[in-house]
Amino acid sequence: MSVYFDHAATTPLLEVSRNAMLGALEVVGNPSSIHSDGRRARQLLEESREQLAASIGCDPIEVIFTGGGTESVNLAIKGIFLAAREAGRKRILAPLGEHHATIDSLNWLEQNEGAIVEWLPLDEFGRVVPSVVEEKLAEFDDWALFTVIWANNEVGTIQPIAELAAIANRFSVPVHADAVSAFKHLSIDFDSSGLAALSISAHKIGGPQGMGALILDRKAVARPLIHGGGQERDLRSGTQNVAGAAAFAAAVASDIPDLRPLRDRLIAGVLEAVPEAVLTGDPVERLDSNAHFLFPGCQGDSLVYLLDERGISASTGSACQAGVPEVSHVLLGMGLDEESASGALRLTLGHSSTAQDVDSLIRVIPEVFEKARKAGLSNRDVGLNS
Ligand SMILES: Cc1ncc(COP(=O)(O)O)c(C=O)c1O
Repeated sequence: MSVYFDHAATTPLLEVSRNAMLGALEVVGNPSSIHSDGRRARQLLEESREQLAASIGCDPIEVIFTGGGTESVNLAIKGIFLAAREAGRKRILAPLGEHHATIDSLNWLEQNEGAIVEWLPLDEFGRVVPSVVEEKLAEFDDWALFTVIWANNEVGTIQPIAELAAIANRFSVPVHADAVSAFKHLSIDFDSSGLAALSISAHKIGGPQGMGALILDRKAVARPLIHGGGQERDLRSGTQNVAGAAAFAAAVASDIPDLRPLRDRLIAGVLEAVPEAVLTGDPVERLDSNAHFLFPGCQGDSLVYLLDERGISASTGSACQAGVPEVSHVLLGMGLDEESASGALRLTLGHSSTAQDVDSLIRVIPEVFEKARKAGLSNRDVGLNS
């Protein structure tokens, strides 16, 4: 594997997770069958649910297994909205800079289901300002939902979720947090969080891709998006992914290393090696796994290609937008102009990251920066950047 700085896109499968998955694949039964093979599969599924619930501070019945973070976010936003609309509530509050799973769900609800979405501005560090949330919630009385990303997947900024949830609760507005990038990096206690729903994904914490969960308060009302056999509290029909759940639970139970010293070494090293680089996101309230920079005069894609040539995997922002030559909506939401925002580089750490990885990156970054800047200048000369 290359020197890997793209753990926010996906992090390598942990050995314990792989072993749990291989073991569970040997179990033959369908967890809904009543014979002993089925009951064995059911037991494994429920043990995984209990492990996940214990780690996140919720009741096992509040864990709904899904096919990943995107599906969890879709179920939370659309499911809660569709139930609330029956009571005449059709307004949803969301900050700019959310993951596309949220943005596209909200746009879809607006275009097809009569939702009204109120977008909240971010400050220059990507933070949602609690007083702005309070003012907005006070303006209307038909709120269906407030949805917010717990920690931004591009710039790493951590939102004051407890404060935001307390405000929304005063207005009796249910809150959904997209905790896909926050889970395991921050301590989460769902019971005391004031949240109605929380989305998580296995492959961001060392589990397999295509596996996730929605934690849904047992008192929260939501409509299913997938209909069928009534599994998962009748909110997500379909035979459960027992092996995926076992692998997810194993990843949840494993310790995550303290990444802060590595992240600080990375940030300090890059800023020293390239004094023109600018750290984006909140300098203090940011994920221990995230370093995100702007390199003036460069295109983020050039930086990524040049690093790749040197055996280093990085990204410009969300993997879900990879290949789409678009400036990050998160950076635009933070008030940056298109030109500054186009020189973004995201470096994210995880359980396999080492100090040697960080030092290899710091060694090559000045040369990569110079090359990307020259490419940026020559593109501008021929009008490609206009
Ligand atoms: C904040 C956030 N939400 C949702 C998702 C989607 O998760 P998944 O890849 O499991 O569908 C991601 C993945 O990049 C993410 O970072």
